[in-house]
Amino acid sequence: MRNKLSRRRFLEATCAGTVISGMSAKEAISKDHSSFITGSDDNLALLGGKPVRSSPFPSWPVIGDVEEQKMLEVLRSRRWNRIGGSFVESFEKNWAERTGAKHCLATSSGTSALVCSMNALEIGPGDEVIVPPYTFVATINVVLLQHALPVFVDTDRETFQIDATKIEAAITPRTRSILPVHLGGAAANLDLILSTAKKRRLSVIEDACQSHLGEWRGRKLGTLGDLGCFSLQASKNLNSGEGGAILSDNKTLIEICRSFHNQGRGAVNSGLSYVRNGDNRRMTEFQGAILLAQITRLEEQSKTREQNAEYLTRQLREIPGIIPAKLYEGCTRNAYHLYMLRYDAHHFSNLERSRFLKALQAEGIPCSGGYSPLNKEPFLKQTLDSRAYRHIYSPKVRAELEERNRCPENDRLCLEAVWLTQNTLLGSKQDMDQIAEAIRKIQRGASALARS
Ligand SMILES: Cc1ncc(COP(=O)(O)O)c(C=O)c1O
Repeated sequence: MRNKLSRRRFLEATCAGTVISGMSAKEAISKDHSSFITGSDDNLALLGGKPVRSSPFPSWPVIGDVEEQKMLEVLRSRRWNRIGGSFVESFEKNWAERTGAKHCLATSSGTSALVCSMNALEIGPGDEVIVPPYTFVATINVVLLQHALPVFVDTDRETFQIDATKIEAAITPRTRSILPVHLGGAAANLDLILSTAKKRRLSVIEDACQSHLGEWRGRKLGTLGDLGCFSLQASKNLNSGEGGAILSDNKTLIEICRSFHNQGRGAVNSGLSYVRNGDNRRMTEFQGAILLAQITRLEEQSKTREQNAEYLTRQLREIPGIIPAKLYEGCTRNAYHLYMLRYDAHHFSNLERSRFLKALQAEGIPCSGGYSPLNKEPFLKQTLDSRAYRHIYSPKVRAELEERNRCPENDRLCLEAVWLTQNTLLGSKQDMDQIAEAIRKIQRGASALARS
Protein backbone atom coordinates (compact mmCIF):
# COMPACT_ATOMS: atom_id res chain seq x y z
CA MET A 1 0.00 0.00 0.00
CA ARG A 2 1.43 3.31 -0.99
CA ASN A 3 -1.10 5.57 0.67
CA LYS A 4 -1.72 5.63 4.41
CA LEU A 5 -5.25 4.32 4.38
CA SER A 6 -5.43 0.65 5.42
CA ARG A 7 -6.88 -1.65 2.79
CA ARG A 8 -9.76 -2.69 5.01
CA ARG A 9 -10.71 0.93 5.82
CA PHE A 10 -10.36 1.83 2.19
CA LEU A 11 -12.74 -0.94 1.10
CA GLU A 12 -15.23 -0.17 3.84
CA ALA A 13 -15.22 3.47 2.82
CA THR A 14 -15.50 2.87 -0.91
CA CYS A 15 -18.14 0.18 -0.52
CA ALA A 16 -20.19 2.58 1.61
CA GLY A 17 -19.98 5.02 -1.28
CA THR A 18 -17.64 7.48 0.50
CA VAL A 19 -15.40 9.74 -1.54
CA ILE A 20 -11.85 9.69 -0.26
CA SER A 21 -9.55 12.72 -0.32
CA GLY A 22 -11.33 14.24 -3.27
CA MET A 23 -11.00 11.06 -5.35
CA SER A 24 -14.11 9.40 -6.77
CA ALA A 25 -14.68 5.86 -5.47
CA LYS A 26 -13.92 4.59 -8.96
CA GLU A 27 -10.56 6.31 -9.14
CA ALA A 28 -9.74 5.26 -5.61
CA ILE A 29 -10.55 1.61 -6.23
CA SER A 30 -8.52 1.62 -9.40
CA LYS A 31 -5.48 3.23 -7.77
CA ASP A 32 -5.59 1.25 -4.57
CA HIS A 33 -6.26 -2.14 -6.09
CA SER A 34 -3.69 -1.88 -8.82
CA SER A 35 -1.07 -1.05 -6.21
CA PHE A 36 -1.75 -3.80 -3.69
CA ILE A 37 -2.55 -6.59 -6.10
CA THR A 38 -0.25 -6.26 -9.01
CA GLY A 39 2.29 -3.59 -8.13
CA SER A 40 3.03 -1.65 -11.28
CA ASP A 41 2.76 -4.63 -13.69
CA ASP A 42 0.06 -3.56 -16.12
CA ASN A 43 1.24 -5.86 -18.87
CA LEU A 44 -1.60 -8.27 -19.61
CA ALA A 45 -0.94 -11.95 -18.91
CA LEU A 46 -2.09 -12.72 -22.44
CA LEU A 47 0.74 -10.48 -23.69
CA GLY A 48 3.33 -12.09 -21.43
CA GLY A 49 2.73 -10.11 -18.21
CA LYS A 50 2.30 -11.46 -14.69
CA PRO A 51 -1.25 -12.71 -14.05
CA VAL A 52 -3.27 -10.97 -11.34
CA ARG A 53 -3.87 -14.36 -9.76
CA SER A 54 -1.98 -17.61 -9.85
CA SER A 55 -3.78 -19.67 -7.16
CA PRO A 56 -6.93 -21.65 -7.93
CA PHE A 57 -10.39 -20.69 -6.71
CA PRO A 58 -12.05 -22.98 -4.14
CA SER A 59 -12.56 -26.46 -5.58
CA TRP A 60 -16.01 -28.02 -5.82
CA PRO A 61 -17.53 -29.98 -4.19
CA VAL A 62 -16.48 -29.43 -0.61
CA ILE A 63 -16.27 -32.78 1.20
CA GLY A 64 -15.30 -34.09 4.61
CA ASP A 65 -15.85 -36.84 7.18
CA VAL A 66 -19.61 -36.56 7.09
CA GLU A 67 -19.74 -37.50 3.37
CA GLU A 68 -17.47 -40.49 3.97
CA GLN A 69 -19.54 -41.73 6.90
CA LYS A 70 -22.84 -41.45 5.08
CA MET A 71 -21.51 -43.22 1.98
CA LEU A 72 -20.14 -46.06 4.08
CA GLU A 73 -23.44 -46.37 5.91
CA VAL A 74 -25.27 -46.93 2.63
CA LEU A 75 -22.61 -49.29 1.34
CA ARG A 76 -22.73 -51.46 4.44
CA SER A 77 -26.52 -51.40 4.66
CA ARG A 78 -26.64 -53.29 1.34
CA ARG A 79 -29.78 -51.30 0.55
CA TRP A 80 -28.64 -49.17 -2.35
CA ASN A 81 -32.04 -48.67 -3.92
CA ARG A 82 -34.55 -46.32 -2.28
CA ILE A 83 -37.14 -49.06 -1.95
CA GLY A 84 -36.58 -50.27 1.59
CA GLY A 85 -33.92 -47.62 2.26
CA SER A 86 -34.13 -44.45 4.33
CA PHE A 87 -31.60 -41.94 2.95
CA VAL A 88 -33.60 -40.68 -0.02
CA GLU A 89 -36.69 -40.36 2.15
CA SER A 90 -34.75 -38.40 4.78
CA PHE A 91 -33.43 -36.08 2.09
CA GLU A 92 -36.97 -35.49 0.82
CA LYS A 93 -38.15 -34.54 4.31
CA ASN A 94 -35.10 -32.32 4.83
CA TRP A 95 -35.50 -30.46 1.51
CA ALA A 96 -39.23 -29.94 2.05
CA GLU A 97 -38.57 -28.53 5.52
CA ARG A 98 -35.80 -26.20 4.37
CA THR A 99 -37.88 -24.82 1.54
CA GLY A 100 -41.22 -24.73 3.30
CA ALA A 101 -42.82 -26.99 0.68
CA LYS A 102 -45.51 -29.46 1.74
CA HIS A 103 -44.10 -32.27 -0.40
CA CYS A 104 -40.84 -33.29 -1.99
CA LEU A 105 -39.98 -36.11 -4.37
CA ALA A 106 -36.34 -36.92 -5.10
CA THR A 107 -35.49 -37.96 -8.66
CA SER A 108 -32.50 -39.25 -10.61
CA SER A 109 -31.79 -35.81 -12.17
CA GLY A 110 -33.18 -32.35 -12.71
CA THR A 111 -34.28 -33.45 -16.16
CA SER A 112 -36.15 -36.34 -14.53
CA ALA A 113 -37.84 -33.89 -12.16
CA LEU A 114 -39.03 -31.88 -15.17
CA VAL A 115 -40.12 -34.99 -17.10
CA CYS A 116 -42.19 -36.25 -14.14
CA SER A 117 -43.74 -32.79 -13.75
CA MET A 118 -44.69 -32.57 -17.43
CA ASN A 119 -46.30 -35.99 -17.20
CA ALA A 120 -48.17 -35.15 -14.00
CA LEU A 121 -49.64 -32.10 -15.73
CA GLU A 122 -50.47 -34.24 -18.79
CA ILE A 123 -48.59 -31.98 -21.18
CA GLY A 124 -48.48 -33.76 -24.50
CA PRO A 125 -48.85 -33.63 -28.28
CA GLY A 126 -50.62 -30.50 -29.49
CA ASP A 127 -49.74 -28.47 -26.38
CA GLU A 128 -47.57 -25.38 -26.20
CA VAL A 129 -45.27 -24.59 -23.31
CA ILE A 130 -43.79 -21.12 -22.73
CA VAL A 131 -40.03 -21.33 -22.18
CA PRO A 132 -37.04 -18.97 -22.05
CA PRO A 133 -34.35 -19.21 -24.72
CA TYR A 134 -31.64 -18.42 -22.17
CA THR A 135 -31.38 -21.69 -20.26
CA PHE A 136 -29.76 -25.11 -20.23
CA VAL A 137 -31.00 -27.34 -23.02
CA ALA A 138 -32.87 -29.67 -20.62
CA THR A 139 -35.62 -27.06 -20.18
CA ILE A 140 -36.41 -27.40 -23.88
CA ASN A 141 -35.69 -31.11 -24.27
CA VAL A 142 -38.35 -32.05 -21.74
CA VAL A 143 -40.98 -30.19 -23.77
CA LEU A 144 -39.86 -31.97 -26.93
CA LEU A 145 -39.93 -35.35 -25.16
CA GLN A 146 -43.67 -34.81 -24.67
CA HIS A 147 -44.05 -33.93 -28.35
CA ALA A 148 -45.25 -30.52 -27.27
CA LEU A 149 -44.13 -27.19 -28.77
CA PRO A 150 -41.65 -24.97 -26.95
CA VAL A 151 -42.68 -21.35 -27.44
CA PHE A 152 -39.77 -19.07 -26.67
CA VAL A 153 -40.36 -15.75 -24.96
CA ASP A 154 -37.51 -13.27 -25.26
CA THR A 155 -35.07 -12.51 -22.44
CA ASP A 156 -34.91 -9.41 -20.30
CA ARG A 157 -31.25 -8.58 -20.95
CA GLU A 158 -30.88 -6.61 -17.73
CA THR A 159 -31.73 -9.59 -15.52
CA PHE A 160 -30.92 -12.53 -17.87
CA GLN A 161 -34.42 -13.90 -17.02
CA ILE A 162 -37.45 -14.57 -19.23
CA ASP A 163 -39.14 -11.23 -20.01
CA ALA A 164 -42.41 -11.87 -18.21
CA THR A 165 -43.99 -8.77 -19.77
CA LYS A 166 -43.93 -10.62 -23.10
CA ILE A 167 -45.49 -13.89 -21.93
CA GLU A 168 -49.12 -12.92 -22.38
CA ALA A 169 -48.63 -12.09 -26.07
CA ALA A 170 -47.18 -15.58 -26.66
CA ILE A 171 -50.19 -17.42 -25.21
CA THR A 172 -52.59 -19.19 -27.59
CA PRO A 173 -55.53 -21.55 -26.98
CA ARG A 174 -52.98 -24.39 -27.21
CA THR A 175 -50.79 -23.05 -24.37
CA ARG A 176 -50.87 -25.34 -21.32
CA SER A 177 -48.03 -24.26 -19.10
CA ILE A 178 -45.36 -21.67 -18.35
CA LEU A 179 -41.92 -23.08 -17.59
CA PRO A 180 -39.84 -20.18 -16.25
CA VAL A 181 -36.22 -20.75 -15.26
CA HIS A 182 -34.68 -18.95 -12.30
CA LEU A 183 -31.47 -18.49 -14.19
CA GLY A 184 -28.19 -18.44 -12.36
CA GLY A 185 -29.95 -18.64 -8.98
CA ALA A 186 -31.83 -15.34 -9.31
CA ALA A 187 -35.60 -15.28 -9.64
CA ALA A 188 -37.63 -14.78 -12.78
CA ASN A 189 -40.41 -12.22 -12.31
CA LEU A 190 -42.79 -14.48 -10.42
CA ASP A 191 -45.40 -11.81 -9.63
CA LEU A 192 -46.05 -11.35 -13.31
CA ILE A 193 -45.65 -15.02 -14.25
CA LEU A 194 -48.04 -16.25 -11.58
CA SER A 195 -50.65 -13.57 -12.26
CA THR A 196 -50.51 -14.21 -16.01
CA ALA A 197 -50.83 -17.96 -15.39
CA LYS A 198 -53.80 -17.43 -13.09
CA LYS A 199 -55.55 -15.10 -15.50
CA ARG A 200 -55.04 -17.46 -18.45
CA ARG A 201 -55.58 -20.67 -16.42
CA LEU A 202 -52.15 -22.11 -17.08
CA SER A 203 -49.99 -24.26 -14.87
CA VAL A 204 -46.52 -23.12 -13.82
CA ILE A 205 -43.54 -25.44 -13.51
CA GLU A 206 -40.62 -23.56 -11.99
CA ASP A 207 -37.29 -24.70 -13.33
CA ALA A 208 -35.39 -24.02 -10.12
CA CYS A 209 -32.54 -26.29 -11.19
CA GLN A 210 -30.02 -23.51 -10.51
CA SER A 211 -31.67 -21.76 -7.58
CA HIS A 212 -31.39 -23.74 -4.35
CA LEU A 213 -32.50 -21.53 -1.43
CA GLY A 214 -33.13 -18.57 -3.75
CA GLU A 215 -36.21 -16.56 -2.76
CA TRP A 216 -39.06 -14.51 -4.16
CA ARG A 217 -40.54 -12.15 -1.55
CA GLY A 218 -39.23 -14.34 1.24
CA ARG A 219 -40.53 -17.62 -0.20
CA LYS A 220 -38.17 -20.24 -1.55
CA LEU A 221 -37.93 -20.58 -5.31
CA GLY A 222 -39.50 -23.80 -6.50
CA THR A 223 -42.40 -23.48 -4.03
CA LEU A 224 -44.50 -20.85 -5.80
CA GLY A 225 -45.60 -22.63 -8.96
CA ASP A 226 -47.65 -25.83 -9.24
CA LEU A 227 -44.40 -27.80 -9.23
CA GLY A 228 -40.78 -26.73 -8.72
CA CYS A 229 -37.86 -28.72 -10.13
CA PHE A 230 -34.27 -28.84 -8.88
CA SER A 231 -31.09 -30.31 -10.29
CA LEU A 232 -28.59 -31.85 -7.90
CA GLN A 233 -26.03 -32.51 -10.63
CA ALA A 234 -22.30 -32.08 -9.97
CA SER A 235 -21.98 -28.37 -10.77
CA LYS A 236 -25.03 -27.37 -8.72
CA ASN A 237 -25.00 -25.61 -5.35
CA LEU A 238 -26.44 -28.79 -3.84
CA ASN A 239 -24.73 -31.75 -5.43
CA SER A 240 -25.00 -35.53 -5.52
CA GLY A 241 -23.19 -36.04 -8.83
CA GLU A 242 -26.54 -36.57 -10.53
CA GLY A 243 -29.90 -36.03 -8.88
CA GLY A 244 -33.03 -33.96 -8.77
CA ALA A 245 -36.06 -33.03 -6.71
CA ILE A 246 -39.62 -31.83 -7.17
CA LEU A 247 -41.42 -29.61 -4.67
CA SER A 248 -45.14 -29.05 -4.53
CA ASP A 249 -47.93 -28.15 -2.16
CA ASN A 250 -50.29 -30.12 -4.37
CA LYS A 251 -50.57 -33.66 -2.98
CA THR A 252 -52.29 -35.06 -6.05
CA LEU A 253 -49.64 -33.76 -8.43
CA ILE A 254 -46.72 -34.96 -6.33
CA GLU A 255 -48.33 -38.40 -5.95
CA ILE A 256 -48.64 -38.68 -9.72
CA CYS A 257 -44.97 -37.68 -10.02
CA ARG A 258 -44.08 -40.29 -7.38
CA SER A 259 -45.99 -42.98 -9.21
CA PHE A 260 -44.66 -42.00 -12.63
CA HIS A 261 -41.04 -41.91 -11.47
CA ASN A 262 -41.43 -45.47 -10.15
CA GLN A 263 -42.79 -47.19 -13.30
CA GLY A 264 -46.39 -46.26 -12.48
CA ARG A 265 -46.56 -48.11 -9.15
CA GLY A 266 -49.16 -46.81 -6.70
CA ALA A 267 -46.73 -46.75 -3.77
CA VAL A 268 -42.93 -46.86 -3.81
CA ASN A 269 -42.95 -50.47 -2.54
CA SER A 270 -46.07 -51.79 -4.27
CA GLY A 271 -44.22 -54.58 -6.07
CA LEU A 272 -45.58 -55.51 -9.46
CA SER A 273 -48.88 -53.65 -9.40
CA TYR A 274 -49.32 -50.48 -11.40
CA VAL A 275 -51.78 -47.60 -11.53
CA ARG A 276 -50.48 -45.81 -14.64
CA ASN A 277 -47.70 -45.88 -17.20
CA GLY A 278 -44.39 -44.59 -15.94
CA ASP A 279 -40.66 -44.58 -16.07
CA ASN A 280 -37.69 -45.18 -13.79
CA ARG A 281 -36.53 -41.79 -12.52
CA ARG A 282 -35.62 -42.92 -8.98
CA MET A 283 -32.77 -41.56 -6.91
CA THR A 284 -30.36 -44.08 -5.39
CA GLU A 285 -29.58 -44.31 -1.69
CA PHE A 286 -25.98 -43.25 -2.43
CA GLN A 287 -27.27 -39.99 -3.87
CA GLY A 288 -29.60 -39.56 -0.88
CA ALA A 289 -26.71 -40.11 1.53
CA ILE A 290 -24.36 -37.67 -0.11
CA LEU A 291 -27.14 -35.07 -0.20
CA LEU A 292 -27.79 -35.46 3.53
CA ALA A 293 -24.13 -34.63 4.05
CA GLN A 294 -23.87 -31.83 1.47
CA ILE A 295 -27.06 -30.17 2.64
CA THR A 296 -25.47 -29.43 6.02
CA ARG A 297 -23.11 -27.05 4.21
CA LEU A 298 -25.66 -25.38 1.94
CA GLU A 299 -26.85 -22.46 4.06
CA GLU A 300 -23.38 -21.32 5.01
CA GLN A 301 -22.08 -21.68 1.47
CA SER A 302 -25.09 -19.75 0.18
CA LYS A 303 -24.37 -16.89 2.62
CA THR A 304 -20.72 -16.77 1.55
CA ARG A 305 -21.69 -16.63 -2.12
CA GLU A 306 -24.21 -13.89 -1.47
CA GLN A 307 -21.80 -11.75 0.53
CA ASN A 308 -18.98 -12.16 -1.97
CA ALA A 309 -21.26 -11.53 -4.93
CA GLU A 310 -22.62 -8.34 -3.41
CA TYR A 311 -19.10 -7.16 -2.59
CA LEU A 312 -17.97 -7.96 -6.14
CA THR A 313 -20.96 -6.18 -7.67
CA ARG A 314 -20.12 -2.99 -5.78
CA GLN A 315 -16.71 -2.98 -7.47
CA LEU A 316 -17.80 -4.10 -10.93
CA ARG A 317 -20.57 -1.51 -11.12
CA GLU A 318 -17.84 1.12 -11.12
CA ILE A 319 -16.14 -0.27 -14.23
CA PRO A 320 -17.50 1.28 -17.44
CA GLY A 321 -18.69 -1.45 -19.81
CA ILE A 322 -19.22 -4.07 -17.09
CA ILE A 323 -22.89 -4.49 -16.23
CA PRO A 324 -23.69 -7.05 -13.51
CA ALA A 325 -27.09 -8.75 -13.93
CA LYS A 326 -29.83 -6.88 -12.11
CA LEU A 327 -32.29 -8.53 -9.73
CA TYR A 328 -36.02 -7.98 -9.78
CA GLU A 329 -37.21 -6.13 -6.69
CA GLY A 330 -39.09 -9.27 -5.58
CA CYS A 331 -35.95 -11.42 -5.58
CA THR A 332 -35.13 -11.38 -1.88
CA ARG A 333 -32.36 -13.95 -2.15
CA ASN A 334 -30.12 -14.89 -5.06
CA ALA A 335 -28.67 -18.41 -4.90
CA TYR A 336 -25.76 -17.30 -7.12
CA HIS A 337 -25.28 -20.52 -9.03
CA LEU A 338 -23.72 -18.20 -11.58
CA TYR A 339 -22.34 -14.70 -11.33
CA MET A 340 -23.55 -13.10 -14.56
CA LEU A 341 -22.63 -9.82 -16.18
CA ARG A 342 -22.74 -8.13 -19.56
CA TYR A 343 -19.62 -6.97 -21.33
CA ASP A 344 -19.76 -3.86 -23.51
CA ALA A 345 -16.75 -3.90 -25.84
CA HIS A 346 -17.10 -0.17 -26.56
CA HIS A 347 -15.51 0.53 -23.19
CA PHE A 348 -12.68 -1.93 -23.91
CA SER A 349 -11.32 -0.47 -27.16
CA ASN A 350 -13.78 -2.70 -29.06
CA LEU A 351 -11.96 -5.81 -27.84
CA GLU A 352 -14.09 -8.81 -28.85
CA ARG A 353 -15.76 -10.67 -26.01
CA SER A 354 -13.96 -13.90 -26.89
CA ARG A 355 -10.61 -12.10 -26.45
CA PHE A 356 -11.78 -10.46 -23.24
CA LEU A 357 -12.67 -13.92 -21.89
CA LYS A 358 -9.27 -15.31 -22.89
CA ALA A 359 -7.55 -12.33 -21.29
CA LEU A 360 -9.52 -12.81 -18.07
CA GLN A 361 -8.71 -16.51 -17.99
CA ALA A 362 -5.04 -15.69 -18.54
CA GLU A 363 -5.19 -13.35 -15.52
CA GLY A 364 -6.24 -16.40 -13.48
CA ILE A 365 -10.02 -15.86 -13.42
CA PRO A 366 -12.01 -18.83 -14.82
CA CYS A 367 -14.94 -17.51 -16.86
CA SER A 368 -17.09 -18.30 -19.88
CA GLY A 369 -19.48 -16.67 -22.32
CA GLY A 370 -22.47 -18.76 -21.21
CA TYR A 371 -25.33 -19.98 -23.37
CA SER A 372 -25.92 -19.60 -27.08
CA PRO A 373 -29.49 -19.01 -28.35
CA LEU A 374 -31.41 -22.27 -27.90
CA ASN A 375 -34.26 -21.05 -30.11
CA LYS A 376 -31.83 -21.09 -33.04
CA GLU A 377 -30.40 -24.57 -32.41
CA PRO A 378 -30.49 -26.70 -35.57
CA PHE A 379 -31.71 -29.69 -33.54
CA LEU A 380 -34.91 -27.80 -32.86
CA LYS A 381 -35.80 -27.59 -36.53
CA GLN A 382 -34.78 -31.23 -37.01
CA THR A 383 -37.17 -32.23 -34.22
CA LEU A 384 -40.00 -30.13 -35.63
CA ASP A 385 -39.44 -31.79 -39.02
CA SER A 386 -39.31 -35.29 -37.51
CA ARG A 387 -41.84 -37.99 -38.27
CA ALA A 388 -43.64 -37.65 -34.94
CA TYR A 389 -43.94 -33.88 -35.19
CA ARG A 390 -45.12 -34.08 -38.79
CA HIS A 391 -47.87 -36.42 -37.59
CA ILE A 392 -49.02 -34.01 -34.91
CA TYR A 393 -48.54 -30.50 -36.32
CA SER A 394 -49.44 -29.05 -39.72
CA PRO A 395 -46.69 -27.48 -41.89
CA LYS A 396 -48.34 -24.11 -41.17
CA VAL A 397 -48.07 -24.52 -37.37
CA ARG A 398 -44.44 -25.64 -37.64
CA ALA A 399 -43.50 -22.77 -39.97
CA GLU A 400 -45.30 -20.23 -37.78
CA LEU A 401 -43.42 -21.45 -34.74
CA GLU A 402 -40.12 -20.47 -36.30
CA GLU A 403 -41.48 -16.93 -36.73
CA ARG A 404 -42.88 -16.80 -33.20
CA ASN A 405 -39.65 -18.05 -31.68
CA ARG A 406 -37.46 -15.10 -32.66
CA CYS A 407 -35.79 -13.54 -29.61
CA PRO A 408 -33.66 -10.53 -30.61
CA GLU A 409 -32.87 -9.41 -27.08
CA ASN A 410 -31.63 -12.88 -26.24
CA ASP A 411 -29.48 -12.96 -29.39
CA ARG A 412 -27.79 -9.82 -28.14
CA LEU A 413 -27.39 -11.12 -24.61
CA CYS A 414 -25.70 -14.26 -25.87
CA LEU A 415 -23.01 -12.06 -27.44
CA GLU A 416 -22.47 -9.96 -24.31
CA ALA A 417 -22.73 -12.37 -21.39
CA VAL A 418 -19.88 -13.31 -19.10
CA TRP A 419 -20.24 -15.94 -16.38
CA LEU A 420 -18.32 -16.90 -13.32
CA THR A 421 -19.32 -20.15 -11.62
CA GLN A 422 -20.58 -20.52 -8.04
CA ASN A 423 -17.35 -21.92 -6.58
CA THR A 424 -15.60 -18.68 -7.56
CA LEU A 425 -17.78 -17.01 -4.93
CA LEU A 426 -16.87 -19.41 -2.14
CA GLY A 427 -13.52 -17.86 -1.30
CA SER A 428 -12.43 -14.61 0.31
CA LYS A 429 -13.04 -10.93 -0.31
CA GLN A 430 -9.50 -10.79 -1.68
CA ASP A 431 -10.54 -13.26 -4.39
CA MET A 432 -13.28 -10.80 -5.37
CA ASP A 433 -10.77 -7.94 -5.37
CA GLN A 434 -8.64 -9.92 -7.79
CA ILE A 435 -11.55 -10.56 -10.14
CA ALA A 436 -12.32 -6.85 -10.26
CA GLU A 437 -8.66 -5.94 -10.61
CA ALA A 438 -8.18 -8.40 -13.48
CA ILE A 439 -11.06 -6.74 -15.34
CA ARG A 440 -9.70 -3.25 -14.64
CA LYS A 441 -6.27 -4.38 -15.82
CA ILE A 442 -7.74 -5.70 -19.08
CA GLN A 443 -9.56 -2.40 -19.55
CA ARG A 444 -6.28 -0.49 -19.12
CA GLY A 445 -4.55 -2.81 -21.59
CA ALA A 446 -7.47 -3.29 -23.98
CA SER A 447 -6.17 -1.11 -26.79
CA ALA A 448 -2.77 -2.86 -26.73
CA LEU A 449 -4.50 -6.23 -26.78
CA ALA A 450 -6.92 -5.21 -29.53
CA ARG A 451 -3.93 -4.12 -31.65
CA SER A 452 -1.92 -7.30 -31.00
C1 LIG B 1 -31.86 -24.59 -15.90
C2 LIG B 1 -31.64 -26.08 -15.88
N1 LIG B 1 -32.67 -26.89 -16.14
C3 LIG B 1 -32.53 -28.23 -16.12
C4 LIG B 1 -31.33 -28.82 -15.83
C5 LIG B 1 -31.20 -30.30 -15.90
O1 LIG B 1 -30.72 -30.86 -14.72
P1 LIG B 1 -29.88 -32.22 -14.75
O2 LIG B 1 -28.58 -31.95 -15.40
O3 LIG B 1 -29.74 -32.56 -13.30
O4 LIG B 1 -30.68 -33.22 -15.47
C6 LIG B 1 -30.23 -28.01 -15.54
C7 LIG B 1 -28.92 -28.60 -15.25
O5 LIG B 1 -27.88 -28.13 -15.62
C8 LIG B 1 -30.37 -26.60 -15.58
O6 LIG B 1 -29.36 -25.78 -15.34
